[in-house]
Amino acid sequence: MKFFLDTANVDEIKRINELGLVDGVTTNPTIISREGRDFEEVVKEIASIVEGPVSAEVIGLTTEEMVKEARVLAKWAENIVVKIPMTEDGLRAVHLLSKEGIKTNVTLIFTVSQGLMAAKAGATYVSPFIGRLEDIGVDGVALVENLRELFDFYQLEAEIISASIRSLKHVEEVAEVGSHIATIPGTLFPKLWSHPLTDNGIATFLKDWEAFKK
Ligand code: E4P
Repeated sequence: MKFFLDTANVDEIKRINELGLVDGVTTNPTIISREGRDFEEVVKEIASIVEGPVSAEVIGLTTEEMVKEARVLAKWAENIVVKIPMTEDGLRAVHLLSKEGIKTNVTLIFTVSQGLMAAKAGATYVSPFIGRLEDIGVDGVALVENLRELFDFYQLEAEIISASIRSLKHVEEVAEVGSHIATIPGTLFPKLWSHPLTDNGIATFLKDWEAFKK
């Protein structure tokens, strides 16, 4: 599974990218607004830090508006992927953009059929929202598992980005069911390599070493 960072905070991105762990970045208007920076400036900076795909979302809701914005976004850097909401207009935009060779990430996927429609329309990535599904009592991991099975069975090329990830358990579970990618908030990512027993173990080793040296 590939690991994306779900943040627009360049300090978080640089820190984790230096460990060789960042395969890509996803943003959305909420994530961008948290940084209080110019949209174009921050997206271009992220795209220059990471080699992998960087998702930037359109704001328009009509096909015409989305396609127009997408063409601009795609010119900002070679690794930009245009994030498009899962609507009828969005699907039409995805289809048009795929014919122009512009990569898309269809966001706000909550059902198997939405995922299938996005993949069939020509999306490069589809993003099922795990946490938001769990908020309404629906099993988001099962959605990822079903999508992976169907994409393989019907040989659909789109890759699944498990999004709205809220916990380490989510990351491990979507990995187990074959998500191609998990996009993980910058604050959660360090938990992937941490454990209190590791910290305790280091402290004990050092304490014992100091006692031995005396
Ligand atoms: C990423 O592509 C999504 O926009 C993001 O993971 C949504 O996360 P949230 O449900 O925690 O806002």
